[in-house]
Amino acid sequence: MKEVTVYAPATVANVVCGFDILGFALSEPSDKMVVRISDKKGVTIINKDDFDLPTEASQNVAGVALLAMLDALNGEVKGFEIESTKTIKPGSGIGSSAASAAAAVVGANELLNKRFSNDELVGFAMCGEAVASGAKHADNIAPCIYGGVILVRSNDPIDIIPIPAPPLYVTVLHPQIEIKTSEARQILKKKVTLKDAITQWANVAGLIAGLMKSDYALIGRSLTDVIVEPMRSTLIPQYDEVKKASLAAGALGGGISGSGPSVFMLSSDEATAHRVEAAIKQVYDKVGIDFHLYITTINPYGVKAIV
Ligand code: HSE
Repeated sequence: MKEVTVYAPATVANVVCGFDILGFALSEPSDKMVVRISDKKGVTIINKDDFDLPTEASQNVAGVALLAMLDALNGEVKGFEIESTKTIKPGSGIGSSAASAAAAVVGANELLNKRFSNDELVGFAMCGEAVASGAKHADNIAPCIYGGVILVRSNDPIDIIPIPAPPLYVTVLHPQIEIKTSEARQILKKKVTLKDAITQWANVAGLIAGLMKSDYALIGRSLTDVIVEPMRSTLIPQYDEVKKASLAAGALGGGISGSGPSVFMLSSDEATAHRVEAAIKQVYDKVGIDFHLYITTINPYGVKAIV
């Protein structure tokens, strides 16, 4: 096999209460990447979009992820070449860097006859993610690779738990501003009170139970974040109004996608997701910044490879 084309989906990390430990994959949008084994040492990066991402492997999330894989291959493979066509805008909060890193390692693994396990791929891709956000976290990478809703119980050692979920419709608002994950992490408080910690882990447990029991009401009331949202929501214009309007239109709940600026709202049916979309549009039409607004679903497959 000479080359493989992979499609890596966008992802929603944190899922409101599960900072750094919960995420799910979206059916749309996704990035395309062609991966080849190369005789040239290291990772050669060709960008086929207008995002102007670094082509130096050590500065590029996909490059760093593949360098980690090359390290594990111990000289058996000289290098990889990737051709990246991104649709997921960097800095949008729907896992753009994770999609690049995941696409690269899944593609390379296909060319190596699936030498590495999915957990090992998550480990390589996390090295790439660390370049983008300044911290190793797998709550975008793991759902991108596995698909569906994922609990990252631990990063080290990697312990990834797929969580069954009922049908959910996701309304995504993407205000056209950029928030750098590294900066959105710096504004977080380093300490939390015991009271807030109790509230937060009760909601994480409630959300997991709600998903597994297909209990939409429990999912809705568990989508509460007392630790991260209060600080990060200040970075997103009219955030509180968007949330209020969405809940009034029937959304189960929702919040900031990853580190923002995208905001996601979950609904139990498509008609409600459309009402939520209309309600958000009404709020955002008055804000005066460009935005994308769309409805999608949870993608159960993760990165798709087409040989
Ligand atoms: N859990 C990470 C954060 C996701 O919120 O910083 C970044 O996309």
